[in-house]
Amino acid sequence: MAFKAKAKHSVTDHPQYRIITVEQPLSIAAESYRRIKTSLEFANVDTRPQVIQICSSMQGEGKSVTALNVAATYAEDGKKVLVVDLDFRRPKLHRSFRVENKDGITDVLAGHIKLEQAIKHGEHGIDCLNRGSKAPYPTAILGSDNMADLFKTLRKQYEYIIVDCPPILAVSDAAIISKLCDGCLFVVSQSKTEKAAARESVKTLRDNGVNILGCVFANISAKRGDYYYSNKYKYYYQNYYGKENEAAKANEEVAEEEKKEN
Ligand SMILES: Nc1ncnc2c1ncn2[C@@H]1O[C@H](COP(=O)(O)OP(=O)(O)OP(=O)(O)O)[C@@H](O)[C@H]1O
Ligand SMILES: [Mg+2]
Repeated sequence: MAFKAKAKHSVTDHPQYRIITVEQPLSIAAESYRRIKTSLEFANVDTRPQVIQICSSMQGEGKSVTALNVAATYAEDGKKVLVVDLDFRRPKLHRSFRVENKDGITDVLAGHIKLEQAIKHGEHGIDCLNRGSKAPYPTAILGSDNMADLFKTLRKQYEYIIVDCPPILAVSDAAIISKLCDGCLFVVSQSKTEKAAARESVKTLRDNGVNILGCVFANISAKRGDYYYSNKYKYYYQNYYGKENEAAKANEEVAEEEKKEN
């Protein structure tokens, strides 16, 4: 099935990759993603990061979800934003755009298609560049001059580029990818990431001279203070059903409970 370059692809349908700023724009979760964006603006006083790598220690810690949601907050501000799937080993970002993983970066680099043909346009103002055909030597391609040139071109076309990548402890790709980026956001999953793994990853990033812009906590467990989280969900549900005043009230209750907790 040929890909139509201008077609708009649904970004939110995939159950695993929800864009909370679109689904529940007034929720605490959506606000947290916007806070990440604001923090990034102030991470480097002199130069704002334009190409941001999203990495974590292991699989399934929330890199792709974070990449999409951070991108969505830029799109929400009317910025031109692209998400790039540089997880060449297990690429999954295309699923969130409901397209096949074909006609992507590797196909552009091989000269089979033009860059414009590879870029998919998501329905919420987020563009996406998938891996495309399977690459036999991912590390070599990621570190190639052609890849560096591709990113130079993309920097001219987009205000923000969010890069999804494989786990730091699984393969050396993340360190190579960091050379294409201005800095990285390190994702920690409260339910999955082990302290030792996080420490090891941060050490690896530092040893490779990676500019760590900040840390994102994903998959926050409901175990910590059930009343806090039940109220948080109350906020989500009320917001979902459009009762914004009640949602705001629930939000205040959460803030009050947080104050008591501390
Ligand atoms: N902030 C979050 N809150 C709740 N669930 C989340 C959050 N971030 C991610 N998840 C869930 O965690 C699971 C793994 O997320 P995701 O696919 O983004 O991880 P990943 O680090 O990209 O994994 P991989 O290394 O396999 O590509 C998904 O089911 C996703 O819905
Ligand atoms: Mg992923």
